[in-house]
Amino acid sequence: MTSRRLGVLVSGRGSNLQALIDAVRGGRLEAEIAIVVSNRPAAYALERARAHGIEAVALDHRQYASRDDYDRELARLLGSRGVGLVCLAGFMRLVGQPLLDAFPDAIVNVHPSLLPAFPGIDAQRQALDWGVKVSGVTVHLVNRELDAGPIVLQRTVAVEPGDTPESLAERILIEEHRAYPEAVGLLLGGRWRIEGRRFVSW
Ligand code: GRF
Repeated sequence: MTSRRLGVLVSGRGSNLQALIDAVRGGRLEAEIAIVVSNRPAAYALERARAHGIEAVALDHRQYASRDDYDRELARLLGSRGVGLVCLAGFMRLVGQPLLDAFPDAIVNVHPSLLPAFPGIDAQRQALDWGVKVSGVTVHLVNRELDAGPIVLQRTVAVEPGDTPESLAERILIEEHRAYPEAVGLLLGGRWRIEGRRFVSW
């Protein structure tokens, strides 16, 4: 990984963005957040970024004729800011080929389950419906398949009797906020490689 400049992609409230901002400011993550981009202009995450003097851009996917057009523009924007690692933080869109090609093994996502269990939306509800006793957090590199790239780091969260999707999500989120900056630091450290579908660090 050459550049420690992060581009963070968001769609909503941006609590994971906040965790990254806090880790950088607190000296726990040696990185700079170069730009935050939201596909939803009203995302609260944009306000969080601006409040910390970080460039925040709304790039509305509805203004683009195709997914590839949108992803090409995202890639151009991130590239123009010297971004070395793209962090998805509640970005509610599939990442397409133009963006994957522009940032090979350099796009990371945080997901609220122990993948490969419960990919996609409503992961906490899926976990409760299945009746698992343990769920958690997965930070993974992004590839063509949904929530299926090499796993960088995982943390477990116990499912408690009486949990609702909301109560489980709340406890998982606390672990996300710890795990995501840690995983980003690991990736920026560069002491890793991909073997098959495994992420190996040393
Ligand atoms: C988090 O649960 C994250 O794992 C998932 O979407 C949620 C985003 O939350 N991908 P926030 O916008 O970071 O608060």
